[in-house]
Amino acid sequence: MASDNPNPNPNPNPKIIVVVGATGHQGSSVVRTFLALRPHWHVRALTRDPTSAASQRLSAQGAEVIQADLDSSSPSSSSPLEAAFAGAHAVFLNTDFWAPYRTALAAGSTQAAASLAGFETEMRHARHAVAAAAKAASSTLERLVYSALAPLRSASGGKYTHSYHWDSKAAAAAWIASPASGLADRASCIYIGAYSTNPLVIPQKMKKETKSREEEEEEEEEEEEEEEEEEEYKYVMRLPAGRGMRTPVLDIAASTGPFVRCLVEDEPANTNLLAYDEYLDVDGLMQAWTEAVRDTSPSSEQQQEHLQPQFVQMDIHEMNRTIGLPLEVLEAPPFIEEFGYMGGVSGGSGGNNFVEPHQLAHRPDARAFADTLKSHGREYLLGSQLPTAATI
Ligand SMILES: NC(=O)c1ccc[n+]([C@@H]2O[C@H](COP(=O)([O-])OP(=O)(O)OC[C@H]3O[C@@H](n4cnc5c(N)ncnc54)[C@H](OP(=O)(O)O)[C@@H]3O)[C@@H](O)[C@H]2O)c1
Repeated sequence: MASDNPNPNPNPNPKIIVVVGATGHQGSSVVRTFLALRPHWHVRALTRDPTSAASQRLSAQGAEVIQADLDSSSPSSSSPLEAAFAGAHAVFLNTDFWAPYRTALAAGSTQAAASLAGFETEMRHARHAVAAAAKAASSTLERLVYSALAPLRSASGGKYTHSYHWDSKAAAAAWIASPASGLADRASCIYIGAYSTNPLVIPQKMKKETKSREEEEEEEEEEEEEEEEEEEYKYVMRLPAGRGMRTPVLDIAASTGPFVRCLVEDEPANTNLLAYDEYLDVDGLMQAWTEAVRDTSPSSEQQQEHLQPQFVQMDIHEMNRTIGLPLEVLEAPPFIEEFGYMGGVSGGSGGNNFVEPHQLAHRPDARAFADTLKSHGREYLLGSQLPTAATI
């Protein structure tokens, strides 16, 4: 007799993935991917605040939301952190540099002290999470995936020493890969490319330099009033690197989860994956932006010219002085240009220091960067500004 149950053989023992940073950009993508793999996976989402809107959303989607704080580590099996990892088969671990960095700056710390606070927090959080997972899931855990970045300081031979948000993740990745972590033989790393919302990969609206009176009068005669207003602006991509800089970029919400799934289900331990949708030089980034902001309505033809962005390479210290962006952020582009996004990353499985998406057993679909940018909306793209130290 045919059963009415559409799912007559639900998996009675789903595997458990614990997502650390589940309410964030990367983690929420991982949560969504593994929720879609039910009944084979059960998703446990960690948060400090299960009542937050983001936590409630995860819960409504079907995740088990668990309260735990990576700052607290008590060596007991009844600690919330260890309980959160109990019986886990996989862990996605993301640590955040920017919240402790911003908190330190707001409290009056120097740039150097704020960077150090971010570095120490990321290391502490990574150690606490890994120690808890090693203890609470020692017999079940198959894979831990840490979200890492390359070691700027060491790979550049000490040339770039201010980018603690890269070096902290590199230090945590090195510790996880060492015997001290207890999980070295079950760990892999995902190296996430630049988010599509990263202001360094998007041109910014700038006022054109003041024109001479003669120039203005000439233009007034030639142009309609409406156009003049638009043409006071131009779009400029300012970077402390040359236009040959190539950077991986991705739709963080759509692509993170599928890449993490590859590392959990398909790839061997100790895989270092550079995760991206597209790998673009500066011209490629600007072309994607131009395509994303193109207005195809017939009346818009004359207004498109100022949407051809210019590229300006600036000296890193001048950019720091004039825009206020800290070296913490500014050192990444010249490092990427000189050493590559994965400069200094080594020791991956099978003799590959790292692998790229096309080398995966089952490559996830890649979204065109122009489409990802388009999804943010034209208004957002036309108003993007570089952050300052105060707004980062
Ligand atoms: N922007 C880029 O282009 C780019 C590229 C590559 C890598 N990254 C890196 O991505 C990282 C940020 O990732 P994201 O954007 O996914 O983060 P996010 O959206 O800012 O979210 C941060 C997450 O960390 C969790 N968290 C923070 N402190 C915690 C604690 N003490 N205990 C437990 N959970 C804690 C938060 O959870 P609750 O608040 O719910 O507790 C939240 O889920 C940064 O460090 C950055 O360097 C950025």
